[in-house]
Amino acid sequence: MNETLTTIYERRAVRKFKDKPVDRKIIEQIIDAGRMAPSAINMQPWKFYILTNKDDIIAFSKAIKAGAVKGIFKSGIKAIAKTVVSALRFPHGADFMKEEDMVFHGAPIVIFITSPNDNEWAPLDIGMCAQNILLAAKSLGLDTCPIGMAKYVEYTKLYPRLNITKDERVNLAIALGYGDENPVVHVRSMNNVTYIG
Ligand SMILES: Cc1cc2nc3c(=O)[nH]c(=O)nc-3n(C[C@H](O)[C@H](O)[C@H](O)COP(=O)(O)O)c2cc1C
Repeated sequence: MNETLTTIYERRAVRKFKDKPVDRKIIEQIIDAGRMAPSAINMQPWKFYILTNKDDIIAFSKAIKAGAVKGIFKSGIKAIAKTVVSALRFPHGADFMKEEDMVFHGAPIVIFITSPNDNEWAPLDIGMCAQNILLAAKSLGLDTCPIGMAKYVEYTKLYPRLNITKDERVNLAIALGYGDENPVVHVRSMNNVTYIG
């Protein structure tokens, strides 16, 4: 294995972080790796909104938890059913519901990534940008967790504090910090390749 492959294989979604600050220069380096992601017709649709204050992160976490309930109920019965089924599949169990910060898992840094609403390729671009961030963080000795639930931030009273414009939406957030756990590797499905010819 080379260094790149080792980083790919060793990255895990980490949900427990040390109470250790992350240097601003390291955050910049990690964000810059995100900027190096490919994007459809080189639109580079990402914008980053970064929380670095512990009290803010906890406040956003609590608001998003409430906002998610509101957002899911607003989306109708199908969305409610889908959420219940997904919750049963949570790989990290139901204990996280009891955490003070059940959304960002106590991370010292949270990066919201947005993209314009009218760019059909943007969600793919954001996925690529996010993966660069996860791997860059891992390569520098930090850990991350992608937080899809963060998209419900738009249903919270705190949303205006992020200064996100009306033509953008949050696709994903990334919890970032020095990890304090070594999660087991989830077994990967292998029966998903078809060679033609
Ligand atoms: C788009 C996306 C959204 C996710 N949302 C959440 C989330 O809201 N909360 C969380 O704890 N983990 C979230 N995860 C992490 C996944 O649960 C995790 O990546 C998956 O279980 C595989 O584990 P691994 O990353 O350690 O390989 C998300 C991952 C992705 C890619």
